[in-house]
Amino acid sequence: MDLLKVTIDNQTIEVPAGTTILQAARLIGKEVAPPAMCFYTKLKTSGGYCRTCLVKVSKGSEKDPRPMPKLVASCRTTVMDGMEVQNYTSPEVVEARKGVVEFLLINHPLDCPICDQAGECHLQDLSYENGRSHSRYEFDRRTFDKIDIGDKIQLHMTRCILCYRCVKVADQLTPGRVHGVINRGDVAEISTYIQNAVDNEFSGNMVDVCPVGALTDKTFRFKSRVWFLKPFDAHRDCDKCSGKTVLWKYGKEIYRVTGRKDQWGEVDEWICNTCRYEKKAPSDWIEEGPRQIDRHSVISQNMYEAGTKFVDSPETLPKKQLS
Ligand code: SF4
Ligand code: FES
Repeated sequence: MDLLKVTIDNQTIEVPAGTTILQAARLIGKEVAPPAMCFYTKLKTSGGYCRTCLVKVSKGSEKDPRPMPKLVASCRTTVMDGMEVQNYTSPEVVEARKGVVEFLLINHPLDCPICDQAGECHLQDLSYENGRSHSRYEFDRRTFDKIDIGDKIQLHMTRCILCYRCVKVADQLTPGRVHGVINRGDVAEISTYIQNAVDNEFSGNMVDVCPVGALTDKTFRFKSRVWFLKPFDAHRDCDKCSGKTVLWKYGKEIYRVTGRKDQWGEVDEWICNTCRYEKKAPSDWIEEGPRQIDRHSVISQNMYEAGTKFVDSPETLPKKQLS
């Protein structure tokens, strides 16, 4: 197979034809990978909605070295041989991304102190790492009533950034789609045409793919901040999905069950609603051990550090963590 050479932020890699700039950057590593709020590896046609992954193509290819005239969405632009890309090394990209973050936050409420997604919210991380420290927006934010999507999911449309990931889940994992985006522009909203329950066995994956706290698991809402829980890899024999999950425990009690996510915050394998909502007894699961949360989230700041052993109780915590 012919490999194409691409250089991103001065690091060169060879990738197969058809690879996007974002995928190539992820192969190099986190230091050059652009943030991505709407692209999701396992969801076909995802990407191209949020513009957080913008990069500058300073050399188009070996054959045609002209730079691309505008910043491009790296999740939707494929690599050409000899292409040179700037991400964090381009002041223009850094500035443009600040603008994108500001737009994403225009209608987003300052709900973080009460939002279940706090601690694992990609928008929090994005605004902290790539945004401005203050808002220039002076107008009223748009508001919506909370909507039940089936009996296990609640939609807070005020927090939605219209990334379309949940729509792709509804489209690609559940038959008979009843969930999508209605209207356009600043009146666009997620809807279930209208209030039809999404009662499919795989609908719970919408909660896992939502990068913000717009779709929340009603069996877990307001029960605990995620950083007070201890995540464990576990599995069970399931006839609907792989049965490989993460149990989020407080003591021995299982507070919630989610899919396992990779270092980019994307689910490895979809899980069914039975595993997610109905198997909350420790006897339902075979535990494999503590999960290393591979993001720089507060969850990994407490008991979980890369390469260290899981610490079971405050008495056995290393002194530096207690001080
Ligand atoms: S509800 Fe969540 S997953 Fe769905 S479009 Fe909004 S932000 Fe994206
Ligand atoms: S991740 Fe590329 S546009 Fe959203």
